[in-house]
Amino acid sequence: MPNDNPMLELVLALPEQLLAGYEAGTGATARATGRSKKADAPRSLVVLGMGGSAISGGLLAGLAADTARVPVLCCRDYELPAFADRNCPVVAISYSGNTEETLAAFETAVGRGCPVRVITSGGRLAEEARRRRLPAVTVPTGLPPRAALGLLFGALLALARAAGCIRLTRREVVAAARLLAARRKAWRRRARTLAAKLGDGAPFVYATDRLTEPVAERWRCQLNENAKLLCHSSVLPEHNHNEIVGMGAPRAATEAHIFALLARTTHPRTRLRLRHLLSITRGAYRGATVLEAEGESRLEQLLSLVMLGDLLSCELAAARGVDPLPVARIDELKRRMARN
Ligand code: F6R
Repeated sequence: MPNDNPMLELVLALPEQLLAGYEAGTGATARATGRSKKADAPRSLVVLGMGGSAISGGLLAGLAADTARVPVLCCRDYELPAFADRNCPVVAISYSGNTEETLAAFETAVGRGCPVRVITSGGRLAEEARRRRLPAVTVPTGLPPRAALGLLFGALLALARAAGCIRLTRREVVAAARLLAARRKAWRRRARTLAAKLGDGAPFVYATDRLTEPVAERWRCQLNENAKLLCHSSVLPEHNHNEIVGMGAPRAATEAHIFALLARTTHPRTRLRLRHLLSITRGAYRGATVLEAEGESRLEQLLSLVMLGDLLSCELAAARGVDPLPVARIDELKRRMARN
């Protein structure tokens, strides 16, 4: 599917990346299991990361929320949560390997004796993992971190499975990759339609349960970084107990186009809530589109909506005449932080 838009090509490569990441993660855990004693059953799993690296942890938490035996927490900060101890596997993800918040929490995790694994393409995190002989998945370098989602998330799935935190088979991962590959062309057309519907309106992304919550977050981040757009996201049913009152103000919010993300996991009562909400607040937003996840498994549903949002961010970048690749403000902030 050649085109002259490198970000779009990377987004379209999500299924191939997912499989490659999963295989790399499986290989790394097989090597680590050969070295280590059998660990106690984990009490929780903590994923460390920021931005385009952290979202894999968020997606895993959403995927695991209603099925996993242990809670999964995504930590996007310098500080490791107090409960994380030697029974709490920690996965530090930083695509560049040089993100200071992730490195700080990683150091604490190692110091506390947590079983730490690493997913990175290099940098200081790779060096530290080598020096301390920690299990590490090394993914190819040279990509914008947010466009390495399939590699990072695929590797994380394999590590979480090997740590006994989630139930997942290779077959499920392959099936999800197949669905994405089969549907990507159609979703690209759909993304174009969604971009036209949004026009110059303000994107509001509403999740409708724990599975779709991190997807709405991914949509927001991708619209921020690729389309250079501010985007609001929120979650039902909680939305119905506060945000519903504020809708329509300030005046700019009346330009909102709502993208509501539904999956099979969405509670039937939440579906009803969405219908009532859109009717009660008519006039407080410009338009609304309800989007249903595709696929059978939770993983398929999660990734179908992720890919649609990623494609929408590329379409919006094209429509706005901006280059989706550079994130100059993030780079400048990192440069300034590195100086002091
Ligand atoms: C850039 C991006 C950012 C980075 C974040 C953390 O594409 O999405 O959100 O992911 O600044 O950097 P890494 O991922 O290198 O730890």
